Amino acid sequence: MRLRKVKNLEARLDTCRGRLLLEKEPTCFQSVFGNDHPVIAEFGIGRGKFILEMAKRHPEKNFFGVERVDSVMIQAMEKVREEKNIRYLIANVEDLVEILPDNSLSGLFLNFSDPWPKKRNRKRRLTYRDYLKQYDRWLIEGSTVQLKTDSDILFAFSIEEVSQTGHILRDVTLDLSKSSAYEDNIRTEYEERFAEQELPIRALRYDSGKALL
Ligand SMILES: C[S@@+](CC[C@H](N)C(=O)[O-])C[C@H]1O[C@@H](n2cnc3c(N)ncnc32)[C@H](O)[C@@H]1O
Repeated sequence: MRLRKVKNLEARLDTCRGRLLLEKEPTCFQSVFGNDHPVIAEFGIGRGKFILEMAKRHPEKNFFGVERVDSVMIQAMEKVREEKNIRYLIANVEDLVEILPDNSLSGLFLNFSDPWPKKRNRKRRLTYRDYLKQYDRWLIEGSTVQLKTDSDILFAFSIEEVSQTGHILRDVTLDLSKSSAYEDNIRTEYEERFAEQELPIRALRYDSGKALL
């Protein structure tokens, strides 16, 4: 999907393509990364500050960022320098079923996912129950899913959906900056804006479970 015009988008994507972009075909992360390190995903990475910082901090893990808007994704891809443990895909999360094998992920971050505030759009929220069930398929049992948001609507909805699908919530906080569970927090681009205004960030975690499918 393309929303905004950015200069020379095709050429810039081409420059990054070989090095960074995971193609839209069934993925074998072992051959993509050349090792069997755990793969941690972020869905809706925006300009990608968070996942790149994670990749720098954790060279013993691999990172996989998904973003549906190419003119946004290019800004994430162009930030990468020497990091070999990160790959990107321009795709909608709903289209990943064809691409991501079951049990291929060891963690998932949902950072400031679109809240879709109107109730009629709730099935588009990335914590809608059908998504959570799909995440349980992609994630190795017991992997952590973490959500951060400024939206009370999305936060309340996510608590409900996580509980309704039988998962156990943990590290639930209405103000991440006051919670010791998030001491190693890396701020995303969106989060920086809220932090500047001293607005609280909501956060939660749960562990994936195959028995719940
Ligand atoms: C509000 S922004 C947050 C970006 C970044 N995570 C941050 O915190 O700075 C949400 C991002 O998720 C992307 N997004 C929303 N729904 C998506 C989906 N279903 N599949 C892939 N990307 C999605 C949007 O294009 C947008 O870039």
